[in-house]
Amino acid sequence: MEESISNKIDLHKININSNPPTEEPSRQYFFMAKCRGWVKDFEEKNGRTPTACVTTFGCQMNARDSEKLLGILEAIGFSPSDSEQADFVIYNTCTVRDNANQRVYGRLGVLKRYKKANPRMKVALCGCMMQEATVIEKLKKSYSFIDLIFGTHNIYKFAELLWASFESEGMLIDIWKDTDKIVEDLPVERKYPYKSGINIMFGCNNFCSYCIVPYVRGRERSREPGEIIREIERLVAEGVVEVMLLGQNVNSYGKNLDEPITFAQLLRKVEQIEGLERIRFMTSHPKDLSEELIAVMKQSKKICRHLHLPLQSGSTRILQQMNRRYTREQYIELADRIRREIPDIAITTDIIVGFPGETAEDLEETIDMVRRVKYDNAFTFIYSKRTGTPAAAMENQVPPEQVKEGFDRLLKVVQDTAREQAAKYQGRIMDALIEEIMEDRHSMEEKQSIEDEHSMEEMHSIKEKHSAENNVPMVTGRLSNNTIVHLPGDASMIGKIVPVSLDECHGFYYIGHCILDETGAK
Ligand code: SAH
Ligand code: SF4
Ligand code: F3S
Repeated sequence: MEESISNKIDLHKININSNPPTEEPSRQYFFMAKCRGWVKDFEEKNGRTPTACVTTFGCQMNARDSEKLLGILEAIGFSPSDSEQADFVIYNTCTVRDNANQRVYGRLGVLKRYKKANPRMKVALCGCMMQEATVIEKLKKSYSFIDLIFGTHNIYKFAELLWASFESEGMLIDIWKDTDKIVEDLPVERKYPYKSGINIMFGCNNFCSYCIVPYVRGRERSREPGEIIREIERLVAEGVVEVMLLGQNVNSYGKNLDEPITFAQLLRKVEQIEGLERIRFMTSHPKDLSEELIAVMKQSKKICRHLHLPLQSGSTRILQQMNRRYTREQYIELADRIRREIPDIAITTDIIVGFPGETAEDLEETIDMVRRVKYDNAFTFIYSKRTGTPAAAMENQVPPEQVKEGFDRLLKVVQDTAREQAAKYQGRIMDALIEEIMEDRHSMEEKQSIEDEHSMEEMHSIKEKHSAENNVPMVTGRLSNNTIVHLPGDASMIGKIVPVSLDECHGFYYIGHCILDETGAK
């Protein structure tokens, strides 16, 4: 196998006057070297390094893609910035619900003003929303100040597109319908030193009737297990202790590889990576969750005690209309089995309210399901009509006024159940991975709540802030079951897994203390 190209490839050594290589990723490194020339030129003219801001909307896969965008921008020589008054701003967009789109349009208005003040500024858009023809039409018509637009399938060509946009005037648009290509080994700038997402597959073949993801992310493609393992080994060597394996439906991982392998088998391989301490994954489709997976989770020392198992609806009739391919009873049976086999596991879910044709009885069934399964957390969404999906053409769309009341009722049950579940661990000692200084966490999540569709509608968590009267410096950690715990500590603990006594439950999170302190050990 060819030796992988390191993240720290020396762009200076690339001859930018030759023809661009045809193979990837060498071709992109060639264009990164070219773009570096543009940055040098900028520096000479302006006496400073150009800044770049990457703003992410949507799910963890987009967050991971954004790390790749930033990795490339940094390799080129841009200095990263959190401010959208930067020299280069890129929005990595989401279109799973209409409000995600509306937020992008709203913020583009602001970017337009920034660009007026700084005409050298470059604005780019990419991600799922760009895969929709109607969006591109609208951008062409009303947002002509945008310099570069590309989609989800050619994101690996970012460096090449950036170069082309530097070289051209006006709006450059490159959208592909689909791809079967997976390009490995491009630079990545990770947000956290101690944990990382890893794509194990791209796209989705499920076509749930409400969902636009299969249309904008294309067909399911799995990465080779060897590539995944090598990437994780590299991350562990850099200090990562927790990985999150990402895919729209991880339970169907590996089915279409030349040498098929199951997700459970992949997990077994990941488990063996020395130095890796925690494994998470997302998302599991209930219809594909195997006995083998439950067995592997049960035996594993590293797989976290948390399963995100989207329900969507508790009514078999609605599930059928949604094309979810499981019944209410099958889901209950599965959840019961998981709770039986892996006690202490947290089960979380996604629920849609107001799907076409949903009646009060259907919603009751969903609410009943929350009580039965005792979800540790649930993301609840109001159904959003996505053009081109089968559900958008269904006749019996539910009027928004009707949805609101049911949504609030569901939310209340979700919150009560989650509180009850969280309280179960009072007084226990559990391992927590320390993630950040507590203040940082709040400001970060507040910022993220604007950008992240999921946390935007996350129904509990950060609203109830820690009300400690004392001023002891605090850190925030995460238990294996994804529960948050705040405890006295300092920055030296970040990235470490420590035993924590869960002293006080405050609704959805704990205040605790590290028990190593008591023995004086470090
Ligand atoms: N692949 C994941 C979900 C990805 S989208 C899975 O199947 O579980 C994340 C969540 O957004 C979904 O679980 C669903 O609850 C919600 N969602 C997707 N399309 C939606 C729509 N049109 N309206 C409202 N919520 C939607
Ligand atoms: Fe959308 Fe369904 Fe695929 Fe999830 S499994 S991304 S909800 S189509
Ligand atoms: Fe994710 Fe949104 Fe795309 S949820 S896959 S970023 S449409």
